[in-house]
Amino acid sequence: MPPTDAPAGPDWWLMLRAFWRRGRQVASFAPSSRAMARAMLRGIDFESTRCVVELGAGTGPVTAEVAARLRPGTTFVAVELDPVLCARLKARFPHLDVVQADAARLDELLAGRGVRQVDHVLSGLPLPSFPAAERDSLLAAAARVLSPAGTFRQLTVMPWVYYPLYRRSFDDVRFHFVAANLPPGGVYVCRGYRGGAGST
Ligand SMILES: C[S@@+](CC[C@H](N)C(=O)[O-])C[C@H]1O[C@@H](n2cnc3c(N)ncnc32)[C@H](O)[C@@H]1O
Repeated sequence: MPPTDAPAGPDWWLMLRAFWRRGRQVASFAPSSRAMARAMLRGIDFESTRCVVELGAGTGPVTAEVAARLRPGTTFVAVELDPVLCARLKARFPHLDVVQADAARLDELLAGRGVRQVDHVLSGLPLPSFPAAERDSLLAAAARVLSPAGTFRQLTVMPWVYYPLYRRSFDDVRFHFVAANLPPGGVYVCRGYRGGAGST
């Protein structure tokens, strides 16, 4: 049963309003398309995946694709800072572990759930808008819990622009372009964390 304080209106309207209220903290005026959400998960073998974490889930386009692929016994946590967007997520996915929190608390959120290792971190966070120290701290926290073959995946609506930023932090960065999104964008798939990127 969805919570009674679930926000009204379509997802695009909630995102547009969140963008209006919080600008660079939301960084997108529309939810990701299904094509973008699927690109985020490209190559993930959900049969062997034990834990997935999503940061900056918004209204849940990526969450929905994860939910459709989750196997029994796989841990999934979706984190969203904005209370209205998070209320939408909780109403839409009452069976999932959705938490309203700052992704900066990743260590604490995982420890509280007994999670020691994560296979994939899916980030919709507007990382380039974060102060460099906060961005580095977030990437380091994700890297600490990622399994050796784990990936850090980052959505973007500015294709290739921030490639150098992720390349400074990870040994291996691949970019998958997604034309079918408003605006067109893509996903960075990063492996092998090697330390803070510093300023852009
Ligand atoms: C570009 S939107 C992406 C939303 C969604 N993943 C999608 O693809 O449509 C960025 C999201 O990150 C959330 N966000 C920003 N800073 C955050 C933080 N520190 N912790 C958790 N979520 C955050 C915003 O509220 C927003 O929902």
